Amino acid sequence: MSEVSEMERTLSIIKPDAVARGLEGEVNALLEAGGLRVVARRGLRLTEDQAREFYAVHRERPFYGDLVRYMTSGDVVVQVLEGEGAVLRNREIMGATDPAEAGEGTIRRLFGESIERNVVHGSDSLENARAEIAFFFSESELK
Ligand code: CMP
Repeated sequence: MSEVSEMERTLSIIKPDAVARGLEGEVNALLEAGGLRVVARRGLRLTEDQAREFYAVHRERPFYGDLVRYMTSGDVVVQVLEGEGAVLRNREIMGATDPAEAGEGTIRRLFGESIERNVVHGSDSLENARAEIAFFFSESELK
């Protein structure tokens, strides 16, 4: 009997250097080819406060300051992806955090330059996906 995954939503961020390199179309083509649909999206520049809060879980890590500086260095695209098992699916399509460890054909392997410039962020659990989506989108934007 095959396992049926639940329909889920997850948050995806296309990071500053990827937006600047014009990779949005290629990234979203890979996400869509993997069975995910973009149901809401917005381009914006994160403020320092927003970046600090969004990545608060990493605040004790040595890379936190650089991460906040990088994520506020240019425009990002925040988007909500929907599909069966979307949280895990998105993470599979993105590949490992470090592009050097990401599998063949994944977004980070194809386009990532370093563990910091790794092209995309994706929620790591359904619980975090709900919180991260609510961080950027109101109910009325999510039909
Ligand atoms: P992301 O999925 O956006 O979540 C936190 C980010 O911190 C991660 O992707 C990386 O881009 C970034 N980062 C920078 N340095 C490190 C590191 N040494 N270990 C893990 N994440 C790092």
